[in-house]
Amino acid sequence: MAEIKMIGVVGGGQMGSGIALLAAANGIHVWLHDTDPNALSRAQKYVSTFVQSLVSKGHLSQAAGSDALIRLQCTSNLEDLQSADVIIEAIVEAEDVKKKLFSELDKIAKGSAILASNTSSISISRLASVTNRPQQVIGMHFMNPPPIMKLIEIVRGADTSDETFSSTKALAERFGKTVICSRDYPGFIVNRILMPMINEAFYALYTGVATKEDIDTGMRLGTNHPMGPLTLADFIGLDVCLSIMKILHAGLGDSRYAPCPLLVQYVDAGRLGRKRGIGVYDYRNPKKGKPKEKEAKVEEKEDKKETKPKENDAAS
Ligand SMILES: NC(=O)c1ccc[n+]([C@@H]2O[C@H](COP(=O)([O-])OP(=O)(O)OC[C@H]3O[C@@H](n4cnc5c(N)ncnc54)[C@H](O)[C@@H]3O)[C@@H](O)[C@H]2O)c1
Repeated sequence: MAEIKMIGVVGGGQMGSGIALLAAANGIHVWLHDTDPNALSRAQKYVSTFVQSLVSKGHLSQAAGSDALIRLQCTSNLEDLQSADVIIEAIVEAEDVKKKLFSELDKIAKGSAILASNTSSISISRLASVTNRPQQVIGMHFMNPPPIMKLIEIVRGADTSDETFSSTKALAERFGKTVICSRDYPGFIVNRILMPMINEAFYALYTGVATKEDIDTGMRLGTNHPMGPLTLADFIGLDVCLSIMKILHAGLGDSRYAPCPLLVQYVDAGRLGRKRGIGVYDYRNPKKGKPKEKEAKVEEKEDKKETKPKENDAAS
C-alpha cells in the first residue's frame, strides 16, 4: 500500500480517542466518528487537554501540538471516512454491532482501504466475513491508553493477506509501537491470559477470600504488577471485561472462563469502572471507598503520563 495519509477511527470512547490522537500526532489526517455527539465532545476535550499537557511539559512544540489538533476532525457522519486509507474500528465490544458496522464500512470505504478492528477478543475472521474484502480485514489491538502503551497486538483473520499484514505492521511501527502477532482465537494473546486473571480476582472477592484492597496489593507487591487486577478492571471498564469473558467462555467452551457473578452484577448495576465514576472502587468522592493502598495513585499516574511510555504501564 502507498503511504497512509488518512485514517478513519470509528468510536470516540477511551480507545478511539486515544488512537485518533496517536495517529494525528504522527502526521496522519484523522476523521474520528461516533454516533454519540457527547462522546465526540468528550473525545475532543481529551485530545486537546492531552496535547496541551504535552506542550506544557516540553514533550511537543506548540506548533506540532497545533498541527496535530488541526489534523484531527470529528464527525457524526460515517461517510466522511470514505477517503481513509485505513479505518480502525473501536466501538462497543459486541459482535453483532461490529458486524453491522463492518458491513457498512465495506460499502463506504474506498476499495484499497484496510478495515482494522481494535477488538479485544472478537473473531477477526467473523468480522471479515460480512465484507467483500476479507483479505483487507485485520485486528489491530491497541492497549489502553493508546498514546502511552508500547504494544500493538496484530491479529490475522483466516483470509488476511500478507500485504494487509505488512501495511498494518508498518503503521503500528510508525506509531512507535512494538508489534506482536496472534492467530485468530478468542482473546488472542494478551486477553487470553489477562482476563482469566481479572475474573479470578473477582471470584476471590466474591467468595470472601480477601478485601479488594488486599487482593490488589497482593498482586501488585507480590507479583510486581504495576496495579492490582481489580484496579486494572476498573481502568479497562467492567463492561469490556465482561464482554471478553463471555467471548472466551463461548469460544473456548470451558467452564473455567465463566464470568464471575460479581462482575456480572456490577455491570448490571452500571458500575462500569472509572469511566462511570464507580466500579470495584468508588472514584466519585476521593475520601470514600477509594483504595487505601497506592492502587488509585497508579491509575491517576496513568492519566498524567505523557509521550514517553514507561515500563510499568499496564492495561489491555
Ligand atoms: N478499554 C480498554 O482497556 C480496551 C483496550 C483494548 C481494546 N479495547 C476495545 O476497544 C473497543 C472500544 O472500547 P472502549 O473502552 O473505547 O469503549 P467505550 O465504551 O469507551 O467507547 C465506545 C464508543 O463507541 C461508540 N459506538 C458504539 N456503537 C457505535 C457505532 N455503531 N458507530 C459509531 N460509534 C459507536 C460509543 O458511543 C462509544 O463512544 C472495544 O472493542 C474494546 O474491547 C478496549
